[in-house]
Amino acid sequence: MTDHTIDVETPLKFAYWVPNVSGGLVVSTIEQRTNWEFEYNRKLARIAEDAGFEYALTQTRYAASYGADKQHEATSFSLALLGATERLKVISAVHPGMWHPGVLAKFIITADHLSGGRAAVNIVSGWLKDEFVNFGLEWLEHDERYVRTEEFINALRGLWTQQGYSQSGKYYNIKDFTLNPAPLDIPGRAHPEIFFGGNSTAAQAAAGRTADWYFSNGRDLEPFKDNIRGVLAAAQDGRKAPQAPRFGLNGFVIARDTEKEAQDTLREIIAKAHKPAVEGFAAAVKEAGQSTKDGKGMWEDSTFEDLVQYNDGFRTKLIGTPEQIATRIVEYKKIGVNLFLTGYLHFQEEVEQFGREVLPIVRELEADLARKNGTELNTDLLPITVPSSASGLETAGVR
Ligand SMILES: Cc1cc2nc3c(=O)[nH]c(=O)nc-3n(C[C@H](O)[C@H](O)[C@H](O)COP(=O)(O)O)c2cc1C
Repeated sequence: MTDHTIDVETPLKFAYWVPNVSGGLVVSTIEQRTNWEFEYNRKLARIAEDAGFEYALTQTRYAASYGADKQHEATSFSLALLGATERLKVISAVHPGMWHPGVLAKFIITADHLSGGRAAVNIVSGWLKDEFVNFGLEWLEHDERYVRTEEFINALRGLWTQQGYSQSGKYYNIKDFTLNPAPLDIPGRAHPEIFFGGNSTAAQAAAGRTADWYFSNGRDLEPFKDNIRGVLAAAQDGRKAPQAPRFGLNGFVIARDTEKEAQDTLREIIAKAHKPAVEGFAAAVKEAGQSTKDGKGMWEDSTFEDLVQYNDGFRTKLIGTPEQIATRIVEYKKIGVNLFLTGYLHFQEEVEQFGREVLPIVRELEADLARKNGTELNTDLLPITVPSSASGLETAGVR
């Protein structure tokens, strides 16, 4: 497929979407036991780190869309979650067009020191035009957004790793700047990790050249190979960052005792979809993939059903019994996925259930895969888990 060497020794990593935006991750009137406020999220973060999740991703949203009328700001919310946890790394989404890279670099260094090296960013180039236009900010055309994003990431990395950093470009000019303190010196990373969300050709190219992690909307196995190829081709041609990019994929998880129950739940989500909100969202996302020259990118061919989960999470098909889901997850590992970004209907219960029922099977299958490849799964890299009876839903809120 590619000359990408699949890393069978490193355990897959798991993240969840922080529900800092109201309404849940599906635009449907089906019951969703979730909450966008902090108390719920604090407890969820503790459940997640005990269940074996290494990361949480906080979205950035300033204006209501797809029926989600309330949102907490991502960087401050992430910082609060870092303060409430011990091992979880919290990735905050940020838009280059809304921040100066120097201000963000400084903010994240402080967050990194406050959290013992657990702060990370997800650089998102944006698709919701109204947020920019109605703030009076410049709205760049699709591919131009990625020109700015690349400069932004280069500036972040430069300011995090060099003294007297300078950069001159189309969007940012930085002269002889030193940020003191620097980020913490943590083994295994050169600086706070830089994730990058996007699907289009321009997104893949920019991520390949600059990001530590390429994050994608939900995709089936075969189509995701194209994304991997695109990112790696760009990395080969013009990568400035030292290590090869790694791959994270979104998936909406519906784990139930039987496949039928899981599929029935999916059908119910779709049947109860909030049509006007999904259609409004479908119109807004035309600023993304469909607006590109080659028509490729996020939501380029998403159906109404796909858009009910606004990051195409059903397409990854993490829907079925724990065994089926674990098997599917390891199929993705075989093509080069390193991390799963997961969403749920009922976050606290299902994150805990995922850790208890799905992850142990994933780890067994990963160990088998490593052995078949003549090596071992590196269990030293597995996150610490705490049995659910100890971390449990009832105690998590009172630590
Ligand atoms: C995992 C992931 C997370 C994202 N998070 C956000 C977000 O929090 N806020 C936002 O405005 N866009 C977010 N995006 C959207 C991207 O910024 C970008 O607009 C989108 O991928 C469309 O770009 P494309 O047409 O280049 O694929 C996210 C994308 C991905 C894949």
